[in-house]
Formats: sequence, C-alpha cells, structure tokens
Amino acid sequence: MCDTHSKPIKLIAAACKNLGIGLKGNLPWHLPNEYKYFINKVTSVTQPGKKNLLMLGRISFGTFDEKYLPLPNCVVALLSKKESNLPKHAHYICRNEEEVLKMAVTPPLCDEVETIWILGGVETYRTMMKHPWCDEIYLTRIEADFECDTFFPKINQEVFSLMDKYPGVPSEVQEEKGLTYVFQVYKRIENIKS
Ligand SMILES: NC(=O)c1ccc[n+]([C@@H]2O[C@H](COP(=O)([O-])OP(=O)(O)OC[C@H]3O[C@@H](n4cnc5c(N)ncnc54)[C@H](OP(=O)(O)O)[C@@H]3O)[C@@H](O)[C@H]2O)c1
Repeated sequence: MCDTHSKPIKLIAAACKNLGIGLKGNLPWHLPNEYKYFINKVTSVTQPGKKNLLMLGRISFGTFDEKYLPLPNCVVALLSKKESNLPKHAHYICRNEEEVLKMAVTPPLCDEVETIWILGGVETYRTMMKHPWCDEIYLTRIEADFECDTFFPKINQEVFSLMDKYPGVPSEVQEEKGLTYVFQVYKRIENIKS
C-alpha cells in the first residue's frame, strides 16, 4: 500500500539567452560545473532509504554523460514509443508520461520514490510543467547566445514565480570557461501563498 496518491514533480534544465537547450541532439555548451550542479540536484534526496525517479525522452537519455552513470539514488524511466530494449543504466521504458507518474504512486516504487525529476526533452518539459504535481522548475540561465534547435518552453508567470533566493541553490553569478550563469528556481505560486 502507498501512503500518497501524488509525488512532487520538478523540472531541471539549463538554457541560454533565447531559452535554447540543445543543438543536433546534444548540449550546445560544455560546462562541467553546471553539469555537476544538475547531477547533484537530481541525485540528492532528503529522506534516508528514498530514491528519485528521473523521467526523460530517448534523445535526452542518449546525451547523458556516461561518466556519471549509474546515478546514485535514482530510478531512470526512459520515454519511448518504439524502443523495446532497455538501454544500460535505464530501469524502465515507458510509452508516455502518465505511465511514469502511475508507476511512481503504485507498488513497488511508491514507497521508495521521493521526487519525480523531469530531465527533458521539450515536449516532456511542456507537458509536465502544466501538471498539478509540478511545484518547482530549476533553470540555469546561461548569459550568452548559442546556436540551438531545441528550446525550453515558456514558463507561465501566473503559475510559477521566480525566487530571489532558494535553500541549497547558490544565488551568486557563476563563472565557468569565460561564461556566466545563474541558478534560478521557479516555484508554483499557490505553494508560496499557502
Ligand atoms: N540544456 C538542457 O538542460 C537539456 C536537457 C534535456 C535535453 N536537452 C537537449 O534537448 C535535445 C533533446 O530533446 P528533444 O525534445 O529533442 O528529445 P527527447 O524528448 O529527449 O527525445 C525524443 C524522443 O523521446 C521519446 N519521447 C519523448 N516524449 C515522449 C512521450 N511523451 N511518450 C513517449 N515517448 C516520448 C520519443 O522516442 P521514440 O522516437 O523512441 O518513440 C521521442 O522521439 C538534445 O539536444 C539535448 O541535448 C538539453
């Protein structure tokens, strides 16, 4: 039996000035420290014995930096309509987002999963940011222009509000490889008011 019928959903991405996130199936930049921030966020859990469930599309999974796999404390659900062979370091293949969410709130995963992290791509970000369980969006804003063919969806400012500061998230401007970026967190406004 599970003690809850929902789990928090959080999105995480890094985007450049025009909200670009990808080019030709890869990241347009190479920022190891920013990548480590992302890995640390999705692998850190607050309760002992718990894990996070990562949801991501087939192309985004293929771009994962191998040296960080397998990710500790994580169950990886890959989205694909046609893939039937489970790739190394993925735990489940799901045919749509709802299948992943259902898995998170039913046995055997429901007692184990703490947070559902959405790691892309575009359509998964777009669908999941509208989901009522989605309470936070972690977005690294890289203060530069890059050529991109994949873009983070527009954040509805009536639903999500940008936090000035957020626990566990450095608020100062980061510098790496001659680029600057900031770690932003958007929080669902209903959660702020309550
Ligand atoms: N900057 C960042 O933070 C960040 C984060 C993530 C990704 N990216 C970049 O974004 C690009 C990849 O994103 P993308 O949007 O092009 O591709 P994607 O969503 O990662 O992968 C697309 C594939 O995933 C499967 N898929 C996606 N949504 C699905 C759904 N709802 N149900 C079932 N299957 C689903 C389908 O696979 P099948 O064809 O097998 O059915 C689809 O063809 C890359 O350039 C990557 O580097 C950047």
